[in-house]
Amino acid sequence: MCGIVGYIGKKNAIKVALEGIKRLEYRGYDSSGIVGFHSDLSHPFLKKSVGKIASLEEKLSSIPNASCAIAHTRWATHGEPTVANAHPHHCCNKRIFVVHNGIIENHEFLKGVLSREGHKFISATDTEVLAHLIERGLGLGSLEDTVRDALRHVTGTFGIAVIDSQNPHVLVAARRGSPLLVGVGNDEYFVASDAAAVVNHTKKVIYLNDNEMVVLTPDGFDIFDFSKKKLNKTIDTIDWDIEESKKGGFEHFMQKEIFEAPQVVKNTIGGRIVYKDGEVKLGGLEPVEERLYNVNRFVIVACGTSYYAALVGKYLFEEYARVPVEVEHASEFRYHSLPLDKNTAVIAISQSGETADTLEAIKEAKRKGLLTLGIVNVVGSTIAREVHAGVYNHAGPEIAVASTKAFISQLVVLALMAVYIGRMRLLTSEQAKVILADMLALPDKIVKILKQDAQIKAMAGRYKKFPNFLYLGRKYSWPVALEGALKLKEISYVHAEGYPAGEMKHGPIAVIDKDFPSVVIALRDSVYDKTLSNMQEIKARRGKIIAICENGDKETGNHADDVIFVPKVTEAISPILSVIPLQLFAYHMAIARGADVDKPRNLAKSVTVE
Ligand code: AGP
Ligand code: GLU
Repeated sequence: MCGIVGYIGKKNAIKVALEGIKRLEYRGYDSSGIVGFHSDLSHPFLKKSVGKIASLEEKLSSIPNASCAIAHTRWATHGEPTVANAHPHHCCNKRIFVVHNGIIENHEFLKGVLSREGHKFISATDTEVLAHLIERGLGLGSLEDTVRDALRHVTGTFGIAVIDSQNPHVLVAARRGSPLLVGVGNDEYFVASDAAAVVNHTKKVIYLNDNEMVVLTPDGFDIFDFSKKKLNKTIDTIDWDIEESKKGGFEHFMQKEIFEAPQVVKNTIGGRIVYKDGEVKLGGLEPVEERLYNVNRFVIVACGTSYYAALVGKYLFEEYARVPVEVEHASEFRYHSLPLDKNTAVIAISQSGETADTLEAIKEAKRKGLLTLGIVNVVGSTIAREVHAGVYNHAGPEIAVASTKAFISQLVVLALMAVYIGRMRLLTSEQAKVILADMLALPDKIVKILKQDAQIKAMAGRYKKFPNFLYLGRKYSWPVALEGALKLKEISYVHAEGYPAGEMKHGPIAVIDKDFPSVVIALRDSVYDKTLSNMQEIKARRGKIIAICENGDKETGNHADDVIFVPKVTEAISPILSVIPLQLFAYHMAIARGADVDKPRNLAKSVTVE
């Protein structure tokens, strides 16, 4: 949800900030903008454009030298994606410039007050009130004091960066509810929504917490809380490289990330399986191990793809750890009175670690005194820091808006956790070894699936004209069906619905005819016969079927129009394999339909508003 970058230092600040928002473009691409200044510039250099950052770059035929700049790539919440609504926003006399990620909830009220005082608004955004609020306090103290004072009047969420053209050696940034970090370079300092914007300049970062602000100058930085208390915060080191956030020879990030799956599984498992003992080591859970023995129920909260991973997690935990699990849309968790007791633990699953709905659910669980755990990919992200303990995915940066490799890594972590918690209870070493051996064999099996890429591409060519799809699966394959449908919807804008295969006859079957194809995950698992019956029901209505089958299965293909084979594996981890053909199918469908795979319309990678 929007990317912000600020820079102060010896390099050309406009170039650095522009390059930074390009790396954050996956966070939003409705419009972009940049402002910079230098003591030698008579006016601030301000440019904005609608659409992707490439269109802003086209407007920048020459870039003046600047020592300080802020830039923004927007995912609109208030006001259409127009040039007037693009950030940076400024005050009446173009002195104060602000970029903002989040929502100012009381903007209507503030706008009314400021308008009555004579401030002129030129955009329909919530953000613009910030520039005028800060302008209103100018002259009463430093920029930092003025920003702090302005923020006292604001409700809602913000990650902001502010500069003052009459004071070009200072950049002030602050956060409440939207992510923000400080990049610490050699005589150069950054603020950014995430590390991708700074990693090619510095690996040293400080993650700001809510209600903290930073003041950057060319000579250094100071961090304060909102009561003006100076804070000494630890500097973290980013553990991945700029190369990992580049396409590396692939056409799209999504394609690259799907093809990274074998390595991702290795990285997620890395050092965590002690096969000879049938055990799993999860260092991140050790501090809460004692409490975990007493947990008698888990609630998993997550959104989107992470929610579907959670559904697989429910089946895994119930089968291997014998603990009841409920899965909740994070956005609903706070709104119903789910009975919770002190032996309930809440697990948040989030790739970005910044999803506002999931973060709020975790805060609510903490408020109720519950143990909270995280399964998070982005190291140092807000959710990772908010939970009591957790397990990192180690999937590396996921740039494509459509999540693929993170989903795979979430499933791997959930399987590891199920065995870890299971071994505290009834699961024997020998039982654990069966699934662990299969987990260790996953990377080679994924490679075999990826080799069918050309075949899946050809299949997408045959199906690209169909406007609707039904995705079906039972038990462990049901969440895979949901995820397959979401992938297709997100990037190719083709309507797709996922259902438990057994539910089909209770309604969805009415839509089936020769023009409404179904994708069925029909593995030779404990529910195979029943899934096969559902396929026959579709065929009886002349519906086309794409089946995901197990290697060596000669029967299922007889009931399908197209078949993709995946290797056999323990049922509980089969989603890690069966989802890959569906990711590739969605990818190739999007390409065949001419959609922008990495930047699907209306979406943003990290959803930091509720
Ligand atoms: C995935 O393809 C989606 N873009 C989206 O559903 C995503 O999974 C969801 O917003 C949750 O994100 P998170 O894992 O970063 O919390
Ligand atoms: N609410 C602001 C807007 O609509 C910021 C949105 C964002 O986080 O991108 O411009």
